[in-house]
Amino acid sequence: TETDFLMIPITQPTLHDFEAVMDEFRQAWESRQVTTSVFTRRFEEAVEEKLGVPHAVMVQSCTAGLMLVLRALDLKGKVILPAFTWTATAHAAVWNGLTPVFADIVPGTYTLDPRAVEEALTPDTAAVMPVNVFGCPPDYEAFTRLADKHGLPVIYDSAQGLGSRYQTADGAWHWAGGFGAAEVFSLSPTKVVSAMEGGLITTRDPELAAKLRQMRDYGKTPDGGDIAWLGLSARVPEINAIVARHNFARLEELIARRLELVHLYREALQGLPGLNFQVIPPNCRSTYNYCTVFIDSSLARRSRDEVYEHLQARGIQAKKYFYPALHLQEVYRHFRETYRGRLPVTERAAAQGLALPLFSHMELGTVDQVCDALREILG
Ligand SMILES: Cc1ncc(COP(=O)(O)O)c(C=O)c1O
Repeated sequence: TETDFLMIPITQPTLHDFEAVMDEFRQAWESRQVTTSVFTRRFEEAVEEKLGVPHAVMVQSCTAGLMLVLRALDLKGKVILPAFTWTATAHAAVWNGLTPVFADIVPGTYTLDPRAVEEALTPDTAAVMPVNVFGCPPDYEAFTRLADKHGLPVIYDSAQGLGSRYQTADGAWHWAGGFGAAEVFSLSPTKVVSAMEGGLITTRDPELAAKLRQMRDYGKTPDGGDIAWLGLSARVPEINAIVARHNFARLEELIARRLELVHLYREALQGLPGLNFQVIPPNCRSTYNYCTVFIDSSLARRSRDEVYEHLQARGIQAKKYFYPALHLQEVYRHFRETYRGRLPVTERAAAQGLALPLFSHMELGTVDQVCDALREILG
């Protein structure tokens, strides 16, 4: 039948309230205030209120946000970050003339290992950039301690983490967004909350926030009469902020639905030899931006790449993720020798990780289709 040839997509943006979005966009259209105006500010205020962070600054993308934060902090030297991340984490550093230093990750959670960071510190370390991995936050408290001890700013690439939560040792739960010098989120179509395209910077630092508001608009002074900073053209069209606000209003519903689907995946796949799920620590709540399994070919019947091909043949889109690790990407080939054999957990994760179809409006039955295909080859 026709449906046999339809791919099950790995991800799709869940989009809400088309009529309401269009209604607001008409207001923007008619007012001729079509970029970074009242609706952008309204979305930022909704974020500030929900996450309990004083400043949210919306920009064109998470990548642009990371570039702006690193520039605004006026950093020079080296930045420690994982190689098990999306390439944008390192790109933002390199665009700023900073040298990335890759540190290994923690087995299971696959987030940056604070001890590996400690070992990688040198006098020219300018900052640390931990990454939220598939929705699981890094160990915020460990990085806060490290930052205090060494006087270093921590900038979080929280691209996949809007809606993540973290429980500190005092028992209190916190939304991602209030940690470090700044956190930067993505609102691209593959994220739990999408603006179609967009990024979001959150910070507790009022001066940094004010500077970033100028820097997303070339670096203009508030009266527009002069240019104070080396900025970018990273303003946000109002339509993106409108879409973002409507989707963000359903944040918890979007995550709850993903959690339900992940539970089904876990139940259906438990006991398959060599297949493991990402470990979410008890003091963390994932957004489940991705449901990534890790296929250990020393225990599984097939390798990750064979499983990927099998799913592809069954019309199921999956993603080798994150892959290649950054130090093995073509653009960063000059790092290959330096890191040979030095990032064992990263290299294993990149060889084993396979993200399965997951999005907030996915049918429950789709999980069965994917799991049937996985059991065919791994069972
Ligand atoms: C970890 C990570 N960092 C950065 C980005 C880049 O986000 P954007 O596409 O909004 O620039 C992504 C997007 O997938 C990501 O997963």
